[in-house]
Amino acid sequence: MADFQIAPSILSADFAKLGQECDDVLASGADIIHFDVMDNHYVPNLTIGPLVCDALRRHGVTVPIDVHLMVSPVDRLVGDFAEAGATYITFHPEASDHIDRTIQMIRSAGCKAGLVFNPATPLSYLEYELGNLDMILLMSVNPGFGGQGFISSALDKLKRVRNIIDDSDLDIRLEIDGGVKVDNIAEIAAAGADTFVSGSGIFGKRNESDPNKYDTIIQEMRDELAKVG
Ligand code: DX5
Ligand code: ZN
Repeated sequence: MADFQIAPSILSADFAKLGQECDDVLASGADIIHFDVMDNHYVPNLTIGPLVCDALRRHGVTVPIDVHLMVSPVDRLVGDFAEAGATYITFHPEASDHIDRTIQMIRSAGCKAGLVFNPATPLSYLEYELGNLDMILLMSVNPGFGGQGFISSALDKLKRVRNIIDDSDLDIRLEIDGGVKVDNIAEIAAAGADTFVSGSGIFGKRNESDPNKYDTIIQEMRDELAKVG
């Protein structure tokens, strides 16, 4: 069985009870927490910063926190998120003037580093940095909002990146973000993803019998993934 990881995006959670929301998705079988940081500059929306990451750690979240930076500039926030308990820090190459420097900053701070590719961003950024990456995140929506539809060209891109990773023999996670639901997660896994961000697909789908729990939807995703391997 492949090492598939389900990463609920707390962008779609109830921010008034964020700690409880994290506890509930994790108790329901999620693997990691996806943490979307938006700055109203790189993307036209504004969300959460290092204080909230730190608060989740203090609340008792021990699983990896996957910080997806949709901010420009990037470097100023790397140390703050490392101190706040981030596990992964991923960023968009267009948002950094010096991509290699940013990756080195993330790793020097003790975090795992990832590059994020928008639907129209070419994969050429991988050419000289593959060996410095712990994660490659492909966007299957344009960044900035939850609840958008999956852009199907991401499937071909996933296949290409899966081949690049496998040919390299490097230990790099391949994450997909945007429009991931029960009805497309198997196709996305078959294309090569191993880490699945889902915001509205999970937080919008609480158990009918117990609206604070997410076991049913996460189990449905696992059942779909089991069909793939
Ligand atoms: C979009 C964010 C995503 C978003 C996904 O910019 O990076 O993580 O929360 O939301 P859904 O799963 O609803 O598309
Ligand atoms: Zn994200």
